[in-house]
This record gives sequence, structure tokens and C-alpha cells, in this order.
Amino acid sequence: MKTRTSLLIAGSLLFALTGLVPAQAAVDEEAAQALLKKSDCFKCHAIEKKKDGPAYKEVAKKYKGKADAEDKLVKHMTLKPMIEVDGKKEEHKAIKSSDPAEIKNAAQWILTR
Ligand code: HEC
Repeated sequence: MKTRTSLLIAGSLLFALTGLVPAQAAVDEEAAQALLKKSDCFKCHAIEKKKDGPAYKEVAKKYKGKADAEDKLVKHMTLKPMIEVDGKKEEHKAIKSSDPAEIKNAAQWILTR
């Protein structure tokens, strides 16, 4: 009986503790990469190296600790802002998704490189 009670207590304690962990959903790495691939993002971006666009590592560094990072990236990936490639102005490519959760996941993936 005693063991059962302590197990019960240990169990509830664990449950209470997991509730304290910030509710930051883990990034779905595969889904994010598949979406960026489908959207041709890797044509101009790589994780480590600068191509026509900045490396995702640099983007992550630029936004590190900024509360509005995700919002900024989501806007950048959906609103087609004007950018410059080889001295020519063009619209930035939009991500091929209309699912906010999917787009958010892609933004978080970039921000955690
Ligand atoms: C034709 C080349 C090209 C393609 C394709 C492209 N990008 Fe970019 N991207 C750029 C350039 C150039 C910049 C830098 C723009 C600037 O700083 O003004 C940039 C900037 C960014 C940034 C940083 C924005 C910031 O606020 O610093 C992110 C994030 C990004 N791109 C994500 C993506 C995603 C996701 C895709 C695919 C949907 C994509 N890019 C496709 C060229 C491209």
C-alpha cells in the first residue's frame, strides 16, 4: 500500500512539473524542410552559407532574443516584400502554404538554426 501511495505522489509531482515547462511546441524539422524545399527557398538560402539570400543561421542570429522574430519572419515569408538580388529589385518569394501553423513551424525552424 505504501509503495502505491508514493508512486501516486511521484506521478502527480511529475505531472505538475511537466506543466511548468514553457509551452513551446517542438519544431517539426521534417515538415519545415519539406515546405521550404517545396517553396524553392533553398535556391537562395542555405543553413550555413550565404547565397543570394542570407544563411538561415545569420537570420537566426539577427533575431535572437527578439520577441517579434516569428511575426517578422511570417510576414517576410507571406507578404512578398521587395528585395534586391544581383542589384535588381524583385518580390521575395512567398511560402507555399496557407496554413498558419505550418508557416509558424517554418519560421521557428529558421529561428532555431
Ligand atoms: C530569389 C532568391 C530568394 C528566394 C527564392 C528566397 N529568398 Fe529569402 N531572401 C532573399 C534575399 C535577397 C533576402 C535578403 C532581403 C533583405 O535583407 O532585404 C532574403 C531574406 C530572407 C529572410 C530574412 C528576412 C529578415 O527579416 O531578415 C528569410 C527568413 C527568408 N528570406 C526566407 C525565405 C523563405 C522561407 C523562402 C521560400 C519561401 C525564401 N526566403 C526564398 C532571397 C530569396
